[in-house]
Amino acid sequence: MNWTVRRLLPTLSLLALAAGAAAAPRERVPFNDGWRFQREDPPEVAGRLAYAAIRDWVLPTGDDLLAPPARAAARPQGELGADVSYVRPDFDDSGWRRLDLPHDWGIEGPFKQEISGDVGKLPWAGVGWYRKRFALPAADEGRQVQLDVDGAMAYSTVWLNGRFVGGWPYGYSSYRLDLTPYAKRGAENVLVVRLDNPPDSSRWYPGSGLYRNVWLVQTGPLRVAHWGTFVTTPRVSPEQALVNVDVTVENLTAAKAPLELVTRVFLLDGGGHRTGAEVATSAPVHLEIDPARGRQVMRTSVLTVERPRLWDLDAPQRYLAVTTLARGTEVVDEYETPFGIRTIAYDAEKGLLLNGKPVKVKGVCDHHDLGALGTAVHVRALERQVQILKEMGANAIRTSHNPPAPELLEVADRLGMLVMDEAFDCWRRGKRVPPGMKEDDPRVVYLDYAKVFDDWYEKDLRALVRRDRNHPSVVMWSIGNEVIEQWLSDGWKVAARLGGIVREEDRTRPITSATNNEHAGDIGFQTVLDLVGYNYQGQQYGPFHERHPTIPVFGAETASTVSSRGEYFFPVSDDKLQGRSGYQVSSYDLSAPRWAWPPDVEFKRLDVAPHAFGEFVWTGFDYIGEPTPFGDPPAPSRSSYFGIIDLAGFKKDRFYLYQARWRPELPMAHLLPHWNWPERVGQVTPVHLYTSGDEAELFLNGKSLGRKKRGPRDYRLRWDDVVYQPGTLRAVVYKKGKRWAEDTVATAGQPAKLLASADRAQLHADGQDLSFVAVTIADKDGHPVPRTHDRISFKVSGPGEIVATDNGDATSLESFQSKERNAYNGKVLAIVRTRAGERGKVTVTASAEGMEGAQVTLDSQ
Ligand code: GAL
Repeated sequence: MNWTVRRLLPTLSLLALAAGAAAAPRERVPFNDGWRFQREDPPEVAGRLAYAAIRDWVLPTGDDLLAPPARAAARPQGELGADVSYVRPDFDDSGWRRLDLPHDWGIEGPFKQEISGDVGKLPWAGVGWYRKRFALPAADEGRQVQLDVDGAMAYSTVWLNGRFVGGWPYGYSSYRLDLTPYAKRGAENVLVVRLDNPPDSSRWYPGSGLYRNVWLVQTGPLRVAHWGTFVTTPRVSPEQALVNVDVTVENLTAAKAPLELVTRVFLLDGGGHRTGAEVATSAPVHLEIDPARGRQVMRTSVLTVERPRLWDLDAPQRYLAVTTLARGTEVVDEYETPFGIRTIAYDAEKGLLLNGKPVKVKGVCDHHDLGALGTAVHVRALERQVQILKEMGANAIRTSHNPPAPELLEVADRLGMLVMDEAFDCWRRGKRVPPGMKEDDPRVVYLDYAKVFDDWYEKDLRALVRRDRNHPSVVMWSIGNEVIEQWLSDGWKVAARLGGIVREEDRTRPITSATNNEHAGDIGFQTVLDLVGYNYQGQQYGPFHERHPTIPVFGAETASTVSSRGEYFFPVSDDKLQGRSGYQVSSYDLSAPRWAWPPDVEFKRLDVAPHAFGEFVWTGFDYIGEPTPFGDPPAPSRSSYFGIIDLAGFKKDRFYLYQARWRPELPMAHLLPHWNWPERVGQVTPVHLYTSGDEAELFLNGKSLGRKKRGPRDYRLRWDDVVYQPGTLRAVVYKKGKRWAEDTVATAGQPAKLLASADRAQLHADGQDLSFVAVTIADKDGHPVPRTHDRISFKVSGPGEIVATDNGDATSLESFQSKERNAYNGKVLAIVRTRAGERGKVTVTASAEGMEGAQVTLDSQ
C-alpha cells in the first residue's frame, strides 16, 4: 500500500504545474475537500438507478482484481445516467451544501423514534449525491488517473464528466476506479457520486455517505499495480530477516517495455517517517512486459535485513519498502509499502506465538462507528480508542463485521495492536429480510450483503486481503461472522471457496470464521478454517480440543455483557436477565442477554481450557444501533449497552474488571458502586471490587467489613451484605500478602463546579486533529457527583470548533452536534476539531447553571 501523501494542491497550482516542473512519477493526494452534497434523487431518476436496474453496468468494476482468466463482464451499450440532471457536468450545484469529506449524513440526524433502535434511530437510509469539480494539468496528458475510495456507504455509482465510470455495492470495501478514459487535461472535470442505502439492509448503524477518505492517484503507464506489493518475512532470527517483496508491475502502453525494479528498505520512526539510509537493497530485477501477452507480471525480490528490529506489541517497529521502477535512467514509478518484521504461528496447545513467544489474545470486537462522530473516519478518534484499549490491557481488535478503515490498521501497526480482519457478516444466506417475511420463506429476498454476495464476494475478499496483507498488526483473516451457512450441512462449501481466495492472496496468515453454532467445529467448517473461533460457546473449548487436537481454538466473540455507565439497580441479582430499569442496565456487570455471559463466566471458561488462545469481548466501545436489551418500541434507545467503554469513551466499571485480568502486573483496584445513596440508608447495598491483587479488606467509615481472598476462579471480590451509610468506602488490596493497591469511594456533596480535562492539549492545525474534552460535575471539594444530569453548555474561542458532544447515555435522542447536553451520571464530552492552517490558542469553556464553570486551553499549531 502506498502512503505517499502529498498535500492536495489547490486547482490553480495543479494547473500551474502544467507550465513547469515535471510531476513526480506517482502522486497520491487527498481528494476530500470542496464537495457539494444533496440528499435524494432528482425526479427524472424515478427508480432507474436502483442497483437491480443497473447491476450490469456496475458489475465490470474491479474485474482486474479477479484471478486470471478474469471474468471480464461487458458493460451494456449506451451511457448510463446521461439524462439525469445531477450527472450532467453543466448542472448548477451551487445551491447544494458545501462540505469536506469524510462525511456521514446519518449522524447529522435528527434522531427519529420511528426508526428502529437497531440501526440507531438515525436517517442513514436513502440516497445521497456528491459532486466535485477539479482541474488536471495539461502537462499530465498521457498519465493515468485513478480515484481511490476507502469506503462509501453504499451501492456507489460514479460518473466523470457525465460518463459512467463504475460502482461498488459493499460500503465497507476500498475500491479503485480508473478515471483515465473520461478525464480532461488542462480543463475542469466534474466528478459525481451517487450513494444508496436501502432501508433494513443492516443489523446495526452502518453510517452513510463518503465516510472514508478519497484519493486521487496519478501514475505513468508503466507502474506498480494497485495494491501491487506483498511483503513477507519468511525467515526471521535475531541476526537476520529475509524479506520477500512480491511486486506486480503493469504496462498500460501498447509497446514492450524493458524495466528495472529495485526495492530498498528503510527504518520508520514512531511517527511513520523514514529514517537514515537504507538498511537493505534488493538486487535489480530486469523484466520486460509485452502487453500483447498480458499487462502484468509479478517478480519477487529477496532482501536481507541484518539485526532486524521486530514488530511487537510493546515495540511496534515498522520498516518501509520503497520500490523503484525504472526504464533506462528514468524512474517511472516509486511505490512505498510500510511493513513490519515479525513472525506469527498458531499452535493448538500453545496458542498464538508472536515472534516465538506465546501471547494470549486479550481482544475486543468493535464496530466501525466513532460514537458521536458517526462513521466518518477520524484518525485521532481511532488512535484514542486504541490508546484506551491498550490502557485496559487489550492487545487485539476484531473488526466486526467488515473491512475496517485503512487508518485503523495504520494506527494498530503504529501503536502495537493485533487485528482480526473480518470480511463479512453474511454470505449467500442473509440476516435481513423485508418486514413480515421469515428467513426460511422459500421466496426470501435478502436486504443485506446476501443480495449481492454471488456477484461480489470474490472482489470484496480479494480487495480486503490485498489492501491489508502488509500490515504487521493483522494476524488472522475472518471470512465471516455467525453466517447462516455454519448451520447448514453444505455450508462448508462456501467457506472453502472463500478460504481458497484468501489463501491465493496470502498464505502467511490463518483463516477463521466466528461461529455461534456449537457444532460448527464438527460439520465440515473446521476443515476449511485454520483456527476455530466460537461466539459465546466457551463450553466447547475443551471438548473441541479433544475432538480436534490439532486445530487452535479461541473465543471469537465473548461476553456481550450489558451495562450503562454509573447505573446500579437493587436488589443485585446474579440472574443475567435482571438488572434493568428505565431503559438502562445495572453496572454490577452481571447482566447479559439470553445467549451471552458476564465476563467472569468467559474468564473461567478460558482458564479451564488453557489451550484456548484468548477472546474477543463484545464490545470494546459502545456503538450506534443494536441497543439490546431495549431494541423494541417504545424504547428510546439508539446505541448499544455492550461496550466496556461507553459511546463517549468514558470507562464503565467493566473496564477495570478486564484491566485486572489483562494487566496483572499493574497495581490497581476499583470499587463499585458509587456511594451516593441517600434513599438507601440502612439497606443492603453490595460492594464489588475489581483488582489485580488477590486479597482485600473493605472499610466503611473506617470500620472493617472483612477481608476477602480471591479463589482460583474468582474474578472479583464481593461484599454482598454491606449496609449503606454515607461516608467513605475504602478497599486495601494485597497481593501475595503484600500491600498492592487501594481505592476509595466517598459520598459526594451537592454539585458545585465543573472539572474539565482535555485528552490532548497540543494539536495540529490541520482541520482534522481532535481534542476530547471531558467535563465532570464535582462538589465543592472536587469529588465527582455521580448521579447528576445537569445541563452543560460549551463555547469555543480561537481556531477550533465543537464538532460533537456526547454523554454515553444510550437513550438520549439529542443531536450529537448540539453544543449543550445534559450530563449523564456526572459526565459530558465535547469533541473539538482544529481549523486547517489557523494556528493559535483554542479555549473551551463549559458552564452549567448554579455551578462554577471550567475552561481548558488547547494549542493548535
Ligand atoms: C452476536 C453477533 C454480534 C452482535 C452480538 C450481540 O451474536 O455476532 O454482531 O449482534 O451478538 O450480543
